[in-house]
Amino acid sequence: MSLKSKIDLLHLPKHIAIIMDGNGRWAKSQGKDRIFGHHEGVESVRVITETAANLGVKYLTLYAFSKENWNRPKAEVEALMDLLVLSLENELETFQKNSIRLLAIGDIDSLPPKTKATLLRVLESTSNNSRMSLVLALSYSARWEITDAAKRLSADFQEGKIKVIDENIFAKYLTTNNIPDPELLIRTSGEYRLSNFLLWQLAYSEMYFTNKYWPEFRAEEFYEAIVDFQGRERRFGKTSEQIKEIN
Ligand code: FPP
Repeated sequence: MSLKSKIDLLHLPKHIAIIMDGNGRWAKSQGKDRIFGHHEGVESVRVITETAANLGVKYLTLYAFSKENWNRPKAEVEALMDLLVLSLENELETFQKNSIRLLAIGDIDSLPPKTKATLLRVLESTSNNSRMSLVLALSYSARWEITDAAKRLSADFQEGKIKVIDENIFAKYLTTNNIPDPELLIRTSGEYRLSNFLLWQLAYSEMYFTNKYWPEFRAEEFYEAIVDFQGRERRFGKTSEQIKEIN
């Protein structure tokens, strides 16, 4: 029996974020080079995007390239940027067919011109789609995002554009403005860390770690993560009894 039938579709996480990790190690385990792992990782991106949209998830955020990833060997960085351009071009038709809106978070201006131009084109072309938002974190790091938000917020405060600073106002300056916080974070490949990903937004998210490498993470693995999530009690600092009274 597929794990899919165990999912309560009425209580799906609205937003799932994923740290896609293990492309390189998976490739090595197959006796191939790292780039081969990234190519196979793109297939997982396609499958998980389609699976999430079909289930009814409203936001899927994928950590595709961190600011720290710029420090990888030049050839790997170039291959990843090329792969991104190719994937965006190839997937545009699927995005339109499935009404998937592409969003991007991160330091988009730091992307190579061709990557940035392709990204902006797909963002624009899919902007009216409404079934699911696929959020790509590109040249993203949470500390960069928070620092950048603080800079712009303090400038607006000094100019008198804002009068008070609170959590809601601060969140508007993050690249995730208008995107709800993820209820579930998934990280593949058996690593247990956040790697500078959505440090503000994950404050109350449930974390799910799996030993599967990203290229091995497909629909059944995704269902398993959601079933696990749905078995948890989310208390947000309250007691179990208080939560049961509310429900
Ligand atoms: C982590 O594996 C993966 C990445 C840094 C890149 C993820 C990119 C893709 C799946 C392809 C392009 C993305 C899209 C959205 C089309 P790793 O290289 O860190 O693996 P390792 O930890 O085993 O070395």
